[in-house]
Amino acid sequence: MTATNTPHLRPISEISPKSTVLLRMDLDVPMENEKVVDADRLIKSIPTIQELLEKQCKIIILGHMGRPKGIDPKYSLKPVFTELLTLLKTDVPATFVEDVENESIIEAAINDNTLVCLENLRFYKGEETNNPQFLVSLVKKASWFVNDAFAVAHRRHSSIMLFQSMQTAYGIAFIDEVTKIMKVIHDPGRPLTIVLGGAKEDKLSYLEGLEKIADHILLGGKLPTYLKDKELLLQHAKYCIASLTANTFDINADDIAAFTAILSVSKTIVWAGAMGMFENPEYQKGTVAIAKAVVASGAYTILAGGDTESSVSNLGEEKKINLIASGGGVMLELLTKGTLPAW
Ligand code: 3PG
Repeated sequence: MTATNTPHLRPISEISPKSTVLLRMDLDVPMENEKVVDADRLIKSIPTIQELLEKQCKIIILGHMGRPKGIDPKYSLKPVFTELLTLLKTDVPATFVEDVENESIIEAAINDNTLVCLENLRFYKGEETNNPQFLVSLVKKASWFVNDAFAVAHRRHSSIMLFQSMQTAYGIAFIDEVTKIMKVIHDPGRPLTIVLGGAKEDKLSYLEGLEKIADHILLGGKLPTYLKDKELLLQHAKYCIASLTANTFDINADDIAAFTAILSVSKTIVWAGAMGMFENPEYQKGTVAIAKAVVASGAYTILAGGDTESSVSNLGEEKKINLIASGGGVMLELLTKGTLPAW
């Protein structure tokens, strides 16, 4: 295994009162008709915002939504900021700035407000190309950078890399996620079982890295259908690959039995991705069975992904989960590389 150390991430308690802070959040939340339909990513950052407000800091919130190509109102962060203000239940002066490159508007917004939220940074090329000029005027206006955006901590984007040019602390949720995921690398109860599912083929690219830390790797969802050298993996003692139902929309009864047997003796479980086409209730059987097995195991458990989380919360058992990670991609990056670009 790659040698890895848990990073020392400065907590926000080290920030001096009345500082102006750039706060990177995970604002990329599911939307329907311009309304936030799942506010979990906002809720996780509320304690960090509240602590900064108690310190009488001014906060400039940075974030992104989706993968827009240029300015596209469909991906505006304005309704997300409105929802955040409702959740914060605060009456501090707050405003939204649409033109991220207009220095004088931003300056006035900061002078007159305690909370300022900037429009989707991915409307500008400089964000994803990590152009050092892109956020330079903001850097001059603030004395601290706070990163509480764990879901994008694996992206080398301008607003993630600000730690290179500013005093930096990490949000409460960010540090919690890193600490709980690092425990799986450094100090896992064994057997350690990793369950991967869902429809995103790119999860398979992590298998080699995951083999180094896991005792068992269970593959369900659409992943078995993408495997080119399935026979090779089947010979590998660590793998259990679902055979799936005839239509491939779920795992079958034998798969459920095989997965459940492994999960029931596991002491650590990491689970990302549903076992079937979860959006259709007809194909939730496998995912529900795995959720029950995960919860019943009593293992130290980390979940990632909306459907995975729903399957456990539908059972009313989310309290038995040690961490619901904000992003599956970043979680797998950290588990396999032991570090992230964000520090
Ligand atoms: C996510 O939704 O997982 C994060 O916002 C990352 O988004 P990205 O894959 O578009 O960088």
